[in-house]
Amino acid sequence: MTPLYTLTTTLLTLLITCSTSTADDAYPSPYTTTCDLNNIPTPIRSEVYDNGRIIDITHRYHPEMPSWGSDEGLGQFLRLPNSMKNGSRSNVSEMKLVTHTGTHVDAPGHMIDEYFDAGFDVDTLDLLVLNGPALLVDVPRDSNITAEVMKSLNIPKGVQRVLFRTLNTDRRLMWQKQFDTSYVGFLRDGAQWLKDNSDIKLVGIDYLSAAAFVDSVATHRVFFESRDIILVEGLKLDDVEAGIYSVHCLPLRLLGAEGSPIRCILIK
Ligand SMILES: *[C@@H]1O[C@H](CO)[C@@H](O)[C@H](O)[C@H]1NC(C)=O
Ligand SMILES: *[C@@H]1O[C@H](CO)[C@@H](O)[C@H](O)[C@H]1NC(C)=O
Ligand SMILES: *[C@@H]1O[C@H](CO)[C@@H](O)[C@H](O)[C@H]1NC(C)=O
Repeated sequence: MTPLYTLTTTLLTLLITCSTSTADDAYPSPYTTTCDLNNIPTPIRSEVYDNGRIIDITHRYHPEMPSWGSDEGLGQFLRLPNSMKNGSRSNVSEMKLVTHTGTHVDAPGHMIDEYFDAGFDVDTLDLLVLNGPALLVDVPRDSNITAEVMKSLNIPKGVQRVLFRTLNTDRRLMWQKQFDTSYVGFLRDGAQWLKDNSDIKLVGIDYLSAAAFVDSVATHRVFFESRDIILVEGLKLDDVEAGIYSVHCLPLRLLGAEGSPIRCILIK
């Protein structure tokens, strides 16, 4: 039999280390662990699965992740209109999210209005481009992605999917809530070079935009013009070796939307 004092000590410890849940705690920070008096284990959140064979390159959506143009981050994007604590039969959350939040995909309608009107939304994106062999490359850290940089990467012809890891990853920009305009992205001549001299159809990048902040619209338009290049932005490329993987990215089928959150994984 467990001596009573041990039980009491255990209970006391639990009471001291566990914070009681309030309405504001419905969506706790992903960085703090809470514990449960009912002996429910803490959920496991993983970056890799199957001993590292499957790598999640999607950022977790949370209030303190960066959001385009904001100093305050994404903010509380989930609410709980129905809650069991308030007598509902179940907890049902609702979300309000700019479609270009976190790890996301752009459709051609994002910056070419005629394409938006014509219906080139995320539901029309080619899943074959978003899924298949992919190359993860490191971009020289001293420059934005220009034609010269693209040339220097020596990406072989025939490679259709490339994830570009840049200074953004070293600077951990996707982990900082303040939006930073000095992120690295493509300049217009870099985008043009990619279009004219490579077979790349999937462009992945490690901050919220594939195009550098300066000249962002013009650079996006170079990518979107032919409607066969897909941009996946805000990827989590930390702690992944450069090389060849199988990439799998699936956007939501949002009819009429020019962007969508996307879940992307790499498989070794
Ligand atoms: C429960 O209802 C109260 C009053 O409407 C509200 O203030 C509170 O936020 C609700 N709690 C949750 C968890 O939804
Ligand atoms: C939702 O229901 C679960 C299960 O009963 C409960 O643990 C959780 O605290 C509830 N969340 C809210 C915010 O009421
Ligand atoms: C890339 O361009 C941005 C402006 O869009 C600039 O602030 C930044 O310093 C450039 N980064 C590098 C490494 O040249």
